[in-house]
Amino acid sequence: MDLCKHRADCGGCIYQGIPYEEQLQLKAKEVLRHFKDNLVTYDRFLGIEGSPTRYAYRNKMEYTFGDEVKDGEMTLGLHKQGRYMSIITTGQCQIVDPDFNRVLEATLTFCKEHEYSFYHKKSHKGLLRHLILRKGEHTCELLINMVTSTQQPFDGTSYVSLIEGLDLNNQVVGILHTENDNLSDSVVCDKLNILKGRAYYNEELLGLKFRVSAFSFFQTNVQAVERLYTEALSLIPDLSGKTVFDLYSGTGTITQTAALRAKKAIGIELVEEAVETARTSAELNGLTNCTFIAGDVLKVLDGLTDKPDVIILDPPRSGVHPKALEKILNYGVKEIVYISCNPKTLAQNLATAMLFGYRTDTLKAYDNFPFTKHIEALALLVKE
Ligand SMILES: C[S@@+](CC[C@H](N)C(=O)[O-])C[C@H]1O[C@@H](n2cnc3c(N)ncnc32)[C@H](O)[C@@H]1O
Repeated sequence: MDLCKHRADCGGCIYQGIPYEEQLQLKAKEVLRHFKDNLVTYDRFLGIEGSPTRYAYRNKMEYTFGDEVKDGEMTLGLHKQGRYMSIITTGQCQIVDPDFNRVLEATLTFCKEHEYSFYHKKSHKGLLRHLILRKGEHTCELLINMVTSTQQPFDGTSYVSLIEGLDLNNQVVGILHTENDNLSDSVVCDKLNILKGRAYYNEELLGLKFRVSAFSFFQTNVQAVERLYTEALSLIPDLSGKTVFDLYSGTGTITQTAALRAKKAIGIELVEEAVETARTSAELNGLTNCTFIAGDVLKVLDGLTDKPDVIILDPPRSGVHPKALEKILNYGVKEIVYISCNPKTLAQNLATAMLFGYRTDTLKAYDNFPFTKHIEALALLVKE
């Protein structure tokens, strides 16, 4: 494939133009550098695995309305590299499904024709804020969500007609209109209007079914994560009769995959909506041996009477909070599987784990986000 047209301006794909094998080696080196910096040793490093698909792998994009130059033509897309106020139209992005580019371009043209204004971050005046697109990788279902302020009316009926008239490869299952009058730049849902269809899409992951609602987190590169989870669980071949704690469980994808083989799986997650999603999908999957608890891992662990045999960690980029980590390590389980989206905090947490008698038995890196700076890593900790 030719180099991405947006590579000079877009801040997302910093490795565009570098041969893929070289990108992988740069990322593998970065993981090992963090381990070295934190004096964390490991028994075996299994190298880095590339993504099953290098293009069109993202299943979610959150585009912003704005302009590239002050008072210039309206744009819709991503922030320009290193610039907070400048938005570039990314209608030829290579890491999203081509349908995303089609919907983006058509939406921008529609909004220009309707002479809608975009919401200015400084003055807080204007209508259009974000366009969020989500797709079920295995179901080919598309969810379209326009986010606007309520300062002017938005013609939802015409927008539905526009989307219905597009020639798309995926099936549009929901067209939504989110009202957001919050001052911050992030998407906050004051009111969700369903213009057409439903407010969720279906996804499948390792044979399990998931219902992903408009705002709940779901893994971005589904094919890559399926491989990562398979390898993560294969590090503990025998889960039968065991209780698994899946901490930072999100929508419960790992919890449910573990529940298929374990006696019991308990997922703990801060975001209530994600926990609801997890419970719904566990029901859809007929899993009766998993429980989901909403709350901060640090606090929820104190109230649990169950004791884990195995712990799985998949924390946010900031890693496991030091106080929570101490509680987790104090369970003294033989095996901990740590999935990380930030090798720096992974290495820092593992340095602490060493002080509690854990050694890093296996370490592997994954490039789940080709061309971007992001790296996933998997570690198996074993207590001596
Ligand atoms: C990398 S994601 C894990 C996603 C999950 N494995 C999944 O597949 O959906 C990290 C998750 O940790 C949650 N989180 C962040 N801080 C937390 C805390 N203190 N306690 C519990 N969950 C937390 C986030 O909301 C997010 O869902």
